[in-house]
Amino acid sequence: MDQNNRIDATVDWRENAFDLTRGIAAYTQSGLVGRLAKIIAKHPDADIANAFNHKQVACKMWARDELFNTCGGAFQRIWVLGGWYGVLAAMLLDDARFDISQIDSIDIDEDVAAVAETMNKDAPGFRAVTADMYALDYASATPDLVVNTSCEHIADVRGWLDMLPKGTKVLLQSNDYFAEPTHINCVESQQAFEQLARLADIRFSGTLPQKKYNRFMLIGSV
Ligand SMILES: C[S@@+](CC[C@H](N)C(=O)[O-])C[C@H]1O[C@@H](n2cnc3c(N)ncnc32)[C@H](O)[C@@H]1O
Repeated sequence: MDQNNRIDATVDWRENAFDLTRGIAAYTQSGLVGRLAKIIAKHPDADIANAFNHKQVACKMWARDELFNTCGGAFQRIWVLGGWYGVLAAMLLDDARFDISQIDSIDIDEDVAAVAETMNKDAPGFRAVTADMYALDYASATPDLVVNTSCEHIADVRGWLDMLPKGTKVLLQSNDYFAEPTHINCVESQQAFEQLARLADIRFSGTLPQKKYNRFMLIGSV
């Protein structure tokens, strides 16, 4: 800052973002926002602005609300697959409607676990795990809910669902954002997503329109 109180453009944006998020955390008394500030300071390479942009947050608030509406708030063990920086886990643990004993945020990318741990620092029952969702032992662990909001990122959604014990509750999201190169398995519509997943029981099926794409969600069981 110069003597006229103008921002010095040479200051790294992270320093400003850190100060701002800490201020918002203090003002809103939000531990979650405080942990976002910690991520900016401690994990400068993390793409947290992307993971916590307003569209990502809207999709996860939608997931959280519809999960509560359809299944209630009591869970023993939730597995969030493709959990990235642990934002959805943090939002579920931050919500007083939910009583969750354990959440494992599982991702194949070994660089994200440390960030997910900071995102959920001091949350009892939270664990970040580095693993391929195709290599998990679903039958032994018996999670009572399996979440995958990254279905557009995996090649064989139905093949993966076949690995889950019959009756397992799932919350799935995908989208029609074909232009994003990392999206290897988008679907064209809500109906196409239903046909791809072929859930045995559907409790919720809906679409959240976004500016550039639609987000599709299914809640039910395999
Ligand atoms: C970009 S992120 C999440 C996007 C999504 N819209 C969301 O926020 O839920 C997708 C994540 O899926 C993870 N992923 C992809 N394939 C996976 C696999 N086979 N097992 C576990 N995680 C996987 C990636 O490493 C990445 O962190």
